[in-house]
Amino acid sequence: MKTPVFVQLHRDSAEHIRQELIHGLTADAQPGGATVSPKFLYDALGSRLFEAITELPEYYPTRTEAAIFRVHARAMSQAVPKDATLIDLGAGNCGKAAGLFGAFCPRRYVAVDISVDFLRATLDMLQRQYPSMEMVGIGLDFSQALDLPAELGQPGAGPRVLFYPGSSIGNFSPAQALVFLRQVREACGPLAGSGLLIGVDLVKDATELEAAYDDTLGVTAAFNRNLISNVNRLVGTDMRLADWAHLALFNRLESRIEMHLVAQRDLTVRWPGGQRAFSRGERIHTENSYKWTVAGFSKLLLEAGFAEPLVWTDAPTADAGRFAVMWAGA
Ligand code: AVI
Repeated sequence: MKTPVFVQLHRDSAEHIRQELIHGLTADAQPGGATVSPKFLYDALGSRLFEAITELPEYYPTRTEAAIFRVHARAMSQAVPKDATLIDLGAGNCGKAAGLFGAFCPRRYVAVDISVDFLRATLDMLQRQYPSMEMVGIGLDFSQALDLPAELGQPGAGPRVLFYPGSSIGNFSPAQALVFLRQVREACGPLAGSGLLIGVDLVKDATELEAAYDDTLGVTAAFNRNLISNVNRLVGTDMRLADWAHLALFNRLESRIEMHLVAQRDLTVRWPGGQRAFSRGERIHTENSYKWTVAGFSKLLLEAGFAEPLVWTDAPTADAGRFAVMWAGA
């Protein structure tokens, strides 16, 4: 049996993280206002809350994407090269990629997540199920730069299938998404057959979108408000959960769901060495989740250097779909 290899690449220092957060918190009031990057939603509790979100009746993306993979796995396996290196970006519990091992038969599985520690137990378990598959776990914050280790290109590694499911691409602005997709195109390497398999959430009715990001059980509200505890821990701020409410709204002009935390009273947030006053109703912008059309995202892929994609959705015609999975050859 092979054994998984684990690599932790550059991790930001505590001081760098603190400076980034203070910079966002002290950003000018409207327009723009205070911001905190959505990556701070995912501390240990936040990651569990996100898993709970994926099971909510209102949060359609996860189950819609899973159904697309189920129904179209065979068609996808005809497009995606066999015996490839499958590179899973934001692997988490590796469940989505592992569900495709049977159809795609990869030679090597590379799981990438922000911390290699998240991947150890899962990859050890997967290795027992697939003893002859090479497995690599990489800790990397690829939202900053997709710098994969050069050793991945060693001879005999086969074509590369970059895998980015879950519509996480929606958490980048269109400009950031283009930069990221160009890096992914680069990471596909020179071998014929390589490409990107990606999940993309599609534009739809505002009511359905807003319900998906403001569920009746209040799990998404807890996920958003938990960011306050994480920021308090990382910066030493004195924010009180009770002072901040969750807001999710669909900004049709920008084609994105926005999540905000809204101050419930006039208050001052203090931390060692600084402070910021918030008036009642003032917001901290915590996340954008862009919703694409099939045509709009196909155009972005072409701009990033990919070929015209193959598209699978949950509807008989791509335009009527709620979610899309696309294969774009490099
Ligand atoms: C991780 N990402 C794709 C989720 C989304 O839908 O944008 C994060 C999320 N935020 C609130 N609910 C889910």
